[in-house]
Amino acid sequence: MSGDALYDTIARIYDPWSVSVREDVGFYVDEALHSGGPVVELAVGTGRIAVPTAMAGIRVIGVDESPGMLAVAREYAEREGVTERLDLRVGDLREPPVTERVPLVTIPFRSLLHMPSDAEKVRALAAAKALLQPDGLLVFDVFAPSREDIEETDGLWIERELGIFERADWDQRRRSLVLTVRSDDRTAATMELHWLSAAEWNAVIEDAGLEVEALYGWFDGRAFEGGEDMIWVCKPTSVPLDEARPGR
Ligand SMILES: C[S@@+](CC[C@H](N)C(=O)[O-])C[C@H]1O[C@@H](n2cnc3c(N)ncnc32)[C@H](O)[C@@H]1O
Repeated sequence: MSGDALYDTIARIYDPWSVSVREDVGFYVDEALHSGGPVVELAVGTGRIAVPTAMAGIRVIGVDESPGMLAVAREYAEREGVTERLDLRVGDLREPPVTERVPLVTIPFRSLLHMPSDAEKVRALAAAKALLQPDGLLVFDVFAPSREDIEETDGLWIERELGIFERADWDQRRRSLVLTVRSDDRTAATMELHWLSAAEWNAVIEDAGLEVEALYGWFDGRAFEGGEDMIWVCKPTSVPLDEARPGR
C-alpha cells in the first residue's frame, strides 16, 4: 500500500477536526464489551474509537488504508498504555488483511460512504461479513443528509473547529458530497462521499449476505424514524436448513 492515501494529508488535523464527535464512542465500546472481543474495526483511522475500546479491555484489530492515520492511532495507544491490545494493519477495507474470525466487526463514523457505488458497498460489507464468527455481528453507521442540512451548508466554508474549516458541495442528483477540509496552515484534503436511503442500504446489506438485526436512529439506541443518522446492526443471513443440507 502506498503512503499517499487520501487521509494522510489531514491525519494530524483529523482529531482536532472531529473533536466534538463523542456520541458514538460509548456506543461502540459497549458493543465491543458485549461481544467479548476481539473486534475488527475497518477504517480505524486515528483510533478515536479503537483506543477507548482497548482501554476497556477488548483487543482490537484496526485496518486502514492511511499509514498517516495509523501513526496517530499508534501514538494515542502508546499514550494510553494499550498498544498490546491494538493491532493496526495497513489495508483496504474491501480486502482486509485479517485472517482471524471475530464476534464483532465495526465500521464507524460513516466510513462506508467512501465506497463510490452500491457494488463497492456490497463488496465492503461482504468482506466484513467474511471476518465474522457464525454468530457474529457487523455494526456500522452512515448518514443521509436532510434537505435543510444541504441548504444550510452547500458551497460554504464553515469553521468547524478553531482554525479548521470545511466546505460541503452537495450533488443531490448523484447523491454525493464533495467535502474539503483545511486548516489555517493549508493542510487540506478533498473527499467524495456517497449516501443512500435506508431502503437502499437494506438492499445492499441483503446483497452482501447479511440481514438486519436492528436499525437505530441514534447512538442511544432509539429506533430509526427517517432521520439523517442510521446505525445498522447486521448478522450473516441464516441459511434455511434445506439449503444448508442439500439432498435432505
Ligand atoms: C471518517 S474516518 C473514520 C475513522 C475512525 N473509524 C473514526 O471513527 O474516527 C474514515 C477513515 O476511512 C479510511 N478509509 C477510507 N477508505 C478506505 C479504504 N478503502 N480502506 C481502508 N480505509 C479506508 C480513511 O483513511 C479514514 O481513516
